[in-house]
Amino acid sequence: MKGIVLAGGKGSRLYPLTLPISKQLLPVYDKPMIYYPLATLMQAGIREIMVITDTQQQQSFKDLLGTGSHWGIELVYVTQDAPRGIAEALILAEDFLSGDEVVLILGDNLFHGPSLAEKLSASVEGESRAIVFAHPVRDPERYGVISFENGCPARIVEKPSSPESNLAVTGLYKYSNEAVEVARNLDPSPRGELEITDVNNHFLRNRALACFTLGPGYAWLDTGTPEAMLQASEFVHALQERQGVMIACLEEIAFENGWISLGELAKQADALKSSDYGQYLSSIVSRES
Ligand code: TTP
Repeated sequence: MKGIVLAGGKGSRLYPLTLPISKQLLPVYDKPMIYYPLATLMQAGIREIMVITDTQQQQSFKDLLGTGSHWGIELVYVTQDAPRGIAEALILAEDFLSGDEVVLILGDNLFHGPSLAEKLSASVEGESRAIVFAHPVRDPERYGVISFENGCPARIVEKPSSPESNLAVTGLYKYSNEAVEVARNLDPSPRGELEITDVNNHFLRNRALACFTLGPGYAWLDTGTPEAMLQASEFVHALQERQGVMIACLEEIAFENGWISLGELAKQADALKSSDYGQYLSSIVSRES
């Protein structure tokens, strides 16, 4: 199973913050935003990950994330020269996927809760060739909204004025490789983008879309506006302070997955030792030694 993190886009709702820097490099409390979706993929056991960025910012992402080898993963970078839509990621990833299934996550989405590994490792061959995750929200008109009939997904409507449910489709999707072809055959929407909702509706119409609802044990935050970024930072801060555990600590996830050794963890703790993040890594090293 391969992963894609979508870290392109305009980030226009965050202007002027995002005039010189990509949104996904901005902080959500004590880490760059992209750490959170990367953590979700790594927690699901995914080690081969493509990072899609805009052309100007690719070097900054490489400076931050490198090859991924220090986390026991392999990162591949691809640029999207204009934000032509989330579904374009599937076309850009065709060679990288070379026929494999894929988990796609938006670079500004933060998931917190029990690991999604089991749900994501469900096969997307056979009947369900696509899996989406829904989460209840207070303001469904801002999202793609999924409704059900007789327990089966019936429709996904993008930003409906009269939502049929309060369930938003989150920015985490799993597809069989067929999704590449589906994306290729899409027409751009009136706003000029290849819409991921159109990919999902293709599978839904073919009765091949499964939807898991993330219940009250999960938090899902997207961080695309100043207000949402502040809320996400406050959420991460509050949880870390109260529980003494770090959310989206990539070295810790890599170590727990058995992808890096204690020695490698200690090396990274040392390199980051001036920060609370580095000291948290040191505390894991001490505990495990
Ligand atoms: P959005 O939040 O829908 O778009 P955006 O990031 O351009 O922000 P704004 O609406 O404020 O202008 O995108 C969700 C995620 O997907 C985000 O991480 C950026 C990414 N994305 C791409 O990588 N390429 C694209 O073509 C689009 C539309 C989004």
